[in-house]
Amino acid sequence: MSQDKKKPKLSAEPEVMEKIVSLCKQRGFVFQSSEIYGGLKSCYDYGPLGAELKRNVKAEWWRTMVHGREDIVGIDASIIMHPNVWRASGHLAGFTDPMVDCKDCKERGRADKWPTAPEGTEVEYKVIVDHQTGKKETRKGAVGKLGIICPNCGSPNLSDIRRFNMMFRTSLGSVDNIESISKALEGKNLSGDDLKKAIADAINETAVYLRPETAQAMFTNFLNVQTSMRMKPPFGIAQQGKSFRNEITVEHFTFRSCEFEQMEMEYFVPPPQYAEEGKDDMYWYNYWCQQRINWYSSLGIRKEKLRLRPHEASELAHYAKACSDVEYDYPWGWGELEGIAHRSDYDLKQHEQHSGKKLTFFDSQKNAHYHPYVIEPAAGADRATLAFMLDAYTEEPPPPGTNEGRTVLKLHPRLSPIKVAVFPLVKKDGMPESARKIIAEFHKHQINAAYDEKDTVGRRYRRQDECGTPYCITVDGQTAQDGSVTIRDRDTMQQERIQIDGAVEAVRKRLA
Ligand code: GAP
Repeated sequence: MSQDKKKPKLSAEPEVMEKIVSLCKQRGFVFQSSEIYGGLKSCYDYGPLGAELKRNVKAEWWRTMVHGREDIVGIDASIIMHPNVWRASGHLAGFTDPMVDCKDCKERGRADKWPTAPEGTEVEYKVIVDHQTGKKETRKGAVGKLGIICPNCGSPNLSDIRRFNMMFRTSLGSVDNIESISKALEGKNLSGDDLKKAIADAINETAVYLRPETAQAMFTNFLNVQTSMRMKPPFGIAQQGKSFRNEITVEHFTFRSCEFEQMEMEYFVPPPQYAEEGKDDMYWYNYWCQQRINWYSSLGIRKEKLRLRPHEASELAHYAKACSDVEYDYPWGWGELEGIAHRSDYDLKQHEQHSGKKLTFFDSQKNAHYHPYVIEPAAGADRATLAFMLDAYTEEPPPPGTNEGRTVLKLHPRLSPIKVAVFPLVKKDGMPESARKIIAEFHKHQINAAYDEKDTVGRRYRRQDECGTPYCITVDGQTAQDGSVTIRDRDTMQQERIQIDGAVEAVRKRLA
């Protein structure tokens, strides 16, 4: 919900970000989408380890928010919803960003994120005058009434601001937009705004939108869920799933992209006059702020890298009673990880008004129908995954007497993509066979385990350290004699001997 004022490009980002992006590619966490075709800006593919990590993040969220409590149930709604949903929610009219173009270098971006300078300030900037040689010319100009300059070339020579709706529009049904547009325009000699309106009308007849947030399906299904599951406020509806926003500015790797996953929960509470003593709407708002920040630290994010930032009154939507962001101290500065909003009874009332269906709860004890208030913790699965990786990324200097440091992803073991790696010390004397048997045992118990016999055992440890694997088991010369193996802890690098028979249990216990 907060908007980051700074917008450095990836190449100018602090070194750690470059290292994370490189590790993500090398170790199979995240790849650029459609890389073999030159990549697609702002779209990313999770590789084998990234897919596991993100699944673990989502599973932890679901366990905490749904399985661990009786007052919250989950849904899995469709991405495409009735277009009136977006009329009621305000997204069709208001989900826009201010877009501006630089007339000199053609950079396009969000006006609210471009560098500011007082109107009339004289600035110097460089413009490419020969695209073949890249030759630049220095020019001077005065900052216009927008009070901003281009972040790329510094030019004050900018277009007017246009509002750009961030929802992706498509059409539903076997209708070809080109057909319907040409039909609507046939025989009409239109131009300018009339032409634009005729085209928009033709498109809008069948237009549907990819959801820009998962939240609305929890409001439209409020009655379905409340009645089918016999829920009574305070209760919550949770959902995880893809959302889509045609962001003008995509930035910081997966932090802000056009296709991302959200983990949202709408917690419906009685309005103040029907609330239980001491547990009014503000009690629940504060409760969720605390619960959500605790969730990140319980999964290993350092406390000093997390903070709760209450929004200023000027940042609040007109219907919101309060809002706070859980922020993380990213390499580029503090930024939003999750937003917790007190949305009052706005959403249910909006959908009631637009759908004509009553969206109230009947409290039989108080003999009253009311619109519950809503507290909404809204998190991003991709952003959380990135924060967990950034926080876990550690470069350790060489221990005394050695010259080899290491890079470790100190992920919480429950988030680690691979839980245990099993190595034969050497590729002979029956060690690979024993290691394979151990791996098979882990797989039988559905514990994600990896086998590795390539390179020295030291290099194998380093590889697993970079993948965040918390435990490595090594079959060595002693294994054949007494059935024992070593288990090495990623963070302490301490090794312990355990029996092969107890290997699964030993890892399970450590993961608990
Ligand atoms: N229903 C409220 C809502 O959608 P939001 O702050 O716009 O609120 C919630 O989004 C969370 O979704 C954010 O805190 C962030 O983690 C994630 N998110 C939003 N836009 C994103 C984007 N373009 N790329 C990646 N994650 C995004």
